[in-house]
Amino acid sequence: MNNNELIENINKLRTEKNAVILAHYYQTGDIQDVADYVGDSLALAQWAAGTKADIIVVCGVHFMGETAKILCPSKTVLVPDISAGCSLADSCPAVEFAAFVAANPGHTVISYVNTTAAVKAITDIVVTSTNARQIVESLPPDAPIIFGPDRNLGNYINSITGRKMKLWDGACHVHEQFSLEKIIALKSLHPEALIIAHPECKQPIINISDYVGSTSALLNYTVASPALRFIVATESGVIHEMQKRSPQKEFIPAPPNDSTCACNECSFMRLNTLEKLYKCLRDEAPRIEVDEETGRRAIRPIERMLELSSRLGL
Ligand code: 13P
Ligand code: SF4
Repeated sequence: MNNNELIENINKLRTEKNAVILAHYYQTGDIQDVADYVGDSLALAQWAAGTKADIIVVCGVHFMGETAKILCPSKTVLVPDISAGCSLADSCPAVEFAAFVAANPGHTVISYVNTTAAVKAITDIVVTSTNARQIVESLPPDAPIIFGPDRNLGNYINSITGRKMKLWDGACHVHEQFSLEKIIALKSLHPEALIIAHPECKQPIINISDYVGSTSALLNYTVASPALRFIVATESGVIHEMQKRSPQKEFIPAPPNDSTCACNECSFMRLNTLEKLYKCLRDEAPRIEVDEETGRRAIRPIERMLELSSRLGL
């Protein structure tokens, strides 16, 4: 089947089966274009929580599907490629994180959404990069906090809030890979370009950036800014939507350290394809399943995040 036929069949199946297709900004452009909603991790969770569809297809990685399934246990949740994992979630095994939590009693446990359901089950509040700062600031200034698993995001929040959260030592392989030297070289070639970075990037990249924010915050910034050229230090998939919203502007993907690989693309996110999306709708598989007890415990910190986000207007 060619792409047009795949899209036609996806549209047919979506209507017949009352399915909704949610896609993260790090998906390939063809998947973003066929999705009902395209957004960041927070938006995907919000849409999943509010949908009336019977089937939710999450074009993203496994933990995003899990979050949707935890929020909607009676619905069918599909991810086109079930092996689409996340190096950041993998950097935080639940057993080790539980030991870290046990070794620091009396702390509020805040976990980034990029975690397994088992980690969420031992978490007090889930956050995404869009709401992490505000949710941390909603706690009393002297509240002892554990933050996991992303040390770069944790360090960034500590630096802008003055908190001293205890951090889990995890990271995302995509955001860790950006080359400071190559970004500085690009900037000297295009001195008028603004450097924008996701807070999962390392501190030296954050330090030279003109703006730091979540995927959707970066996107909104490029729309609002009068600048015409941006060096984008996050997964390059988001450039598809940036270019769509600002066709007159130029977006340069920040280069990774290793110039022989496309390391600014998340290999897990890119496992999903239009063909796998069609097949998963056709077969209603592969499905995300979360055991009942884990789901029952993991839903509380996710709902807390959704409540706080809506109270904070996010
Ligand atoms: P956001 O969608 O919250 O910006 O997170 C980025 C990310 O790495 C998702 O996996
Ligand atoms: Fe995980 Fe990083 Fe890929 Fe996001 S970009 S899904 S954090 S590996």
